[in-house]
Amino acid sequence: MLDFEDTPRQGTPEHKPGSTANPNPAGNAPDPYALDKQPEKTNQSGAEEAVTGLEQVELGAGRVSVDEKRIINCRADVNQLVPFKYTWAWEKYLNACANHWMPQEVSMSADIAMWQDPDALTEDERLILKRGFGFFASSESLVANNIVLGVYKHLTNPECRQYLLRQAFEEAVHGHTFQYIVESLNLDEGEIFNMYRELPSVHNKAAWAMQYTQSLNDPNFQTGTHENDQIFLRDLIAFYVIFEGIWFYAGFVQYLSFGRRNKMTGTAEQMQYIMRDESMHLNFGIDVINQIKIENPNLWTQEFQDEARRMIDEAMHLEIEYAHDTMPRGVLGLNASMFDEYMKFIANRRCSQIGLAELYPGAENPFPWMSEMMDLKKEKNFFETRVIEYQSGGALSWD
Ligand SMILES: [Fe+2]
Ligand SMILES: [Fe+2]
Repeated sequence: MLDFEDTPRQGTPEHKPGSTANPNPAGNAPDPYALDKQPEKTNQSGAEEAVTGLEQVELGAGRVSVDEKRIINCRADVNQLVPFKYTWAWEKYLNACANHWMPQEVSMSADIAMWQDPDALTEDERLILKRGFGFFASSESLVANNIVLGVYKHLTNPECRQYLLRQAFEEAVHGHTFQYIVESLNLDEGEIFNMYRELPSVHNKAAWAMQYTQSLNDPNFQTGTHENDQIFLRDLIAFYVIFEGIWFYAGFVQYLSFGRRNKMTGTAEQMQYIMRDESMHLNFGIDVINQIKIENPNLWTQEFQDEARRMIDEAMHLEIEYAHDTMPRGVLGLNASMFDEYMKFIANRRCSQIGLAELYPGAENPFPWMSEMMDLKKEKNFFETRVIEYQSGGALSWD
């Protein structure tokens, strides 16, 4: 949720924000590591470059004040986590840490027995499970790469970076989850992890997403121009709103449908934990996008909005292709046409969350039970495979 009460905090009595006075008494001594002061770097448009956090450390530089902080194109030091400006980012970081879980905490014994029993699952059910594993296994890596190699450098705010670091770890946990499932069920790991290069409906989504992370991974790419700031915003929409916010949800419905029928309950529970994490990733992305819009309203042109809606429509059709490919026939009370409706419902919701006009007016949610699944409480184990309460590394003993 956006925090509009970003009242700039006052500086400490001994040092006012932005003051040129050196707050460090030792600062009177010459800095032995000081280089000749570098001229301010400018980008292609002549604007001052955003900071990355890797700049020369200048002894005696002023403290950061809240009103200097910006989501993108910040000129103030990004290595000072506080004072907070975007409290929503910090709160998401705290909430994400409170939701910590690891895949090994969920028992897979019932799933293993069911997978090995030739009569316990139909071929169509096995197909859904395996194709979903294939989609998620590589997607976790693609999303993590985008955060670490693309987004992080250009998101010039330390509270948001703190959340990105946590999110990156969670993507590692999710990748671990699919390794754990593949190992537990003794699946062909090459078939699952290489599916995005073998199965067209999985490949097409990955290939579509990659075009939006390419420019951020270009070592010469910098935000600070109208065009490049729009490229960055477009990447956030592609990965947070579409990849994590739309594409993952067909898979969540499929896996949770197994759990609701008391099938593959360990897998379903893992997916429920992943869904809880992903809904926070999505909400973080939405908050970042909306804050960038507030700070840079010139980026949100009609042309840009039209492009964003076109992207969501393209992605929605790729998802429908995937749903038909994973469910050629009805299974678990689901069928592909229900997914057509669900993806349109989700796409509408995502549009409205970032201020775009809805693409498919009137689309309704055919899976109302999904909303109660979203309310997973940490202490509650929905499928009752075991009670999970994360032990934070075990108690330290000083004896
Ligand atoms: Fe993930
Ligand atoms: Fe994610």
